[in-house]
Amino acid sequence: MSTSAEHRVFCESIDLDSKRIPKHVAIIMDGNGRWAKERGEERVFGHINGINSVRSSVEAALLTGVRYLTLYAFSTENWSRPKEEVDALMDLLVSTLIKEVEDLESKGVRLRAIGDLTTLPKACQDQINKSIQSTKNLDALDLVLALSYSSKWELVEATKQLMKSGVNPDELEASHIEQHLATSGIPDPELMIRTSGERRISNFLLWQLAYAEFHFTSVLWPDFGQDNFYDAVRDYQKRNRRFGRLLDTTHTMSK
Ligand code: IPE
Ligand code: IPE
Ligand code: MG
Repeated sequence: MSTSAEHRVFCESIDLDSKRIPKHVAIIMDGNGRWAKERGEERVFGHINGINSVRSSVEAALLTGVRYLTLYAFSTENWSRPKEEVDALMDLLVSTLIKEVEDLESKGVRLRAIGDLTTLPKACQDQINKSIQSTKNLDALDLVLALSYSSKWELVEATKQLMKSGVNPDELEASHIEQHLATSGIPDPELMIRTSGERRISNFLLWQLAYAEFHFTSVLWPDFGQDNFYDAVRDYQKRNRRFGRLLDTTHTMSK
């Protein structure tokens, strides 16, 4: 398990500022189908190869000291894909978890999931719950899988819970909504990466990305390696995050 001194040495070696590593990075892993098509293969070949990029991103997060990594793996809208592709993705999820969980555990990775998990096949739910359970006390990195997830689903669920709780509408605050989101307790991502050249957020973390920096890359997900992850963080470190304020204190409201 890396210590912060190890993170510092590693970041320096790749020209990253260890004091400005985002605590939470969220990724829309996109472009698997196109990657496979370019090779004359079925789409599922792209999904299988995308697992390598998940491994690389987890490794990069551990080495740099990113504390939360959220991966958009399957959206609510992805249920509308052909059954064969959906089935293949669900099978891949189960087999990958079975294969990888020991390695994740040995690296101190805590697995978490957000989304409407009840809609997943039973075998998936069982394997996810098992992996969540066996890694729940680990704290090097929280790996959050967004599965059968969409922001609109999440916000409708949060609203239902709030209405049932009988909260007084006149006393409603942003923090009450946050408490009922699937990401409750997880800090908002500072950096959101989307691969494959698409520039949209496709129903991902609408609330939580309110002030995130976006990094779009044309690299297709199965080609996304550790160096691409570091490039994204380097890009993030060049951004001037103002949060609506003026950073240049020489500007005053004179006269
Ligand atoms: C991302 O790759 C994986 C999932 C959405 C499950 P795609 O399957 O969307 O690949 P493209 O965008 O069609 O190339
Ligand atoms: C977003 O990718 C969802 C995931 C990466 C899981 P999509 O490929 O489904 O998104 P659109 O259809 O291009 O917006
Ligand atoms: Mg896509």
